[in-house]
Amino acid sequence: MKLAARKVLSALPVGALLVGFGIVGCTPPAEVKVPPYQPPTSTPSTDLKNVPVGMSGCLAAACHGAPARELLEGKRDKNSWQGSGSCWAAVDPHTAAYSLLTDHPHRPVKVTAKHIMALYAPGTEATDDARCVACHTNPALATPERFNDPHARALRTEGVSCESCHGSAGGWVSEHTSWKGDRKEVCAKFGMVPLYDLGERALACMGCHVGSPADPKRGLPVRDMNHDMIAAGHPRLNFDFAEYTRRLPVHWEEKDRAANRPRALNPAKVWLVGRVAHAEAACRLLADRAERARQGTPRSPWPELAEYNCASCHHDLRPADEDGTHWRRDLAYLDGRPPGQPPWQTIWPMTPAAGIGAPKRNDAPLKSVIVLMEARRWPAPVQVEKVVNPMITKLQAGLRETVGLSDEEAVSRVKIVLPAGAPQVPEWDSAVQLFFATAALERARNPAPSDVPKEFGQILGAFRSENWKEVTENLNAIRVIQKARP
Ligand code: HEC
Ligand code: HEC
Ligand code: HEC
Ligand code: HEC
Repeated sequence: MKLAARKVLSALPVGALLVGFGIVGCTPPAEVKVPPYQPPTSTPSTDLKNVPVGMSGCLAAACHGAPARELLEGKRDKNSWQGSGSCWAAVDPHTAAYSLLTDHPHRPVKVTAKHIMALYAPGTEATDDARCVACHTNPALATPERFNDPHARALRTEGVSCESCHGSAGGWVSEHTSWKGDRKEVCAKFGMVPLYDLGERALACMGCHVGSPADPKRGLPVRDMNHDMIAAGHPRLNFDFAEYTRRLPVHWEEKDRAANRPRALNPAKVWLVGRVAHAEAACRLLADRAERARQGTPRSPWPELAEYNCASCHHDLRPADEDGTHWRRDLAYLDGRPPGQPPWQTIWPMTPAAGIGAPKRNDAPLKSVIVLMEARRWPAPVQVEKVVNPMITKLQAGLRETVGLSDEEAVSRVKIVLPAGAPQVPEWDSAVQLFFATAALERARNPAPSDVPKEFGQILGAFRSENWKEVTENLNAIRVIQKARP
């Protein structure tokens, strides 16, 4: 196997790790072009629930299209909602999402859609392939029923706009200005996604940033970044809820909607919630991949290689590192797995990566799935469905519980799940997971910039220069410092 893949892999943590401890940089206010408002012609009712209507209405000046200057300067208050849409239009990375599928991406890319499609589906434009469109715009516009509808086609160019996260607005666009009563019930009734709930928010992001099965009830298609697409050149999806949340320009005032008061998110809690939600999203996708493979759905390969640790197959064939060892023969890496079987999902943060959450795989919360996926023979799809579906139910309950934790409880849980001593980090993905966890814990302290251990800066450099020794040394030093704190 060529080492080109190693480049693909190593580019990832660097891309994902452009973290610092400052506030997310908001570029100066740009002029926002607001499309003309078209008042809804029919009275939206629950008949239009989950029907996409596009964002032009949202961006009207009297709605969410007021100047976003204050939001862009990081000031938020009870009137922030007025500039939410303008803030999105001015600085949100999701505005470029659809353009990435065209010949004119709105940001520099390493690999173009044309290049990916030449290998993945020769002769098809990415904008005509529902599998691509599903994540690069409001997914509801990419269902088989809507795919060729000219109106849907036009709306898709908005990219990942309001309805992609808040839910297709047909059912709620008129009513939502005067809602009263229990927010959760109202959202469910009209089809708005309850993004104020941290667990629901994480799952909404992960629909695209991890992938998800089709959801016919909400009118959403399958979203699946599989190994075929990755091998054709699509970047592997890296996602850490805490880090991506931090990087998303915030166009709202963070609120406890039940108590109707502002709240501040604790970064360690965001990380913990993200971790559980991530496991749920990954298991849902796995169960769906298995089901599609069992039913013989076209282009649903099995085993799906993107479920496994990339580096276990795409690796350097050096016999040993300078000191005579090799990470793949390290017992910490094997961790009781049969030699020759790649580990499942080190990229998702719920496996025993670097001992996070469980010192041994036998204690891992996802043990039954791990043992099956890492068995000597690839498990049959039907076996996978049997084991993964009960796990999803368990994780759903776990997510509710985690969302309900107080900040203090969440912080102490994060401290508990991190390795007690200096971590024995077996490979890159685990190191990245561990780094995100330590960074979230650090941010939860809200330190002054001068109070952040210098190792955080050093480790970023080490990740970028692929210096494994420095990565592990800095991780160890960070854990020692964090543990010594009261
Ligand atoms: C499961 C969701 C998903 C699917 C399916 C998907 N993409 Fe993406 N794509 C993303 C995300 C998320 C990113 C941004 C990755 C990041 O920065 O974390 C992205 C990034 C890209 C980029 C930018 C690459 C670069 O070098 O920066 C291109 C081009 C692209 N996608 C094209 C495609 C094409 C073509 C398809 C269909 C073959 C496709 N996408 C399918 C989610 C998806
Ligand atoms: C990437 C996902 C995403 C996209 C895209 C998105 N939002 Fe949001 N939005 C959020 C999240 C998360 C919240 C916080 C939800 C909460 O606390 O209830 C939010 C909150 C809001 C709020 C509440 C503001 C407040 O201070 O009370 C408004 C209004 C809003 N968004 C409008 C929009 C509009 C208009 C668009 C499109 C132009 C849009 N959003 C696009 C994720 C998104
Ligand atoms: C409908 C699909 C979809 C949903 C839902 C979604 N995203 Fe994205 N997201 C994308 C795509 C596609 C890109 C790539 C855009 C680009 O890089 O230009 C992206 C890019 C991003 C980026 C920029 C990444 C980078 O490398 O700079 C951040 C940060 C982000 N998303 C966070 C979130 C968060 C947080 C949520 C949930 C509140 C969310 N996204 C929900 C599809 C989605
Ligand atoms: C079980 C083994 C296995 C796993 C795990 C695996 N791959 Fe692959 N991958 C392969 C094989 C086999 C090929 C085809 C190689 C060839 O044709 O030379 C391939 C091809 C590729 C290619 C195209 C290689 C090239 O040189 O053009 C890329 C990129 C790639 N994989 C990335 C990934 C990523 C990213 C992951 C993790 C999400 C991953 N792979 C997981 C076995 C694997």
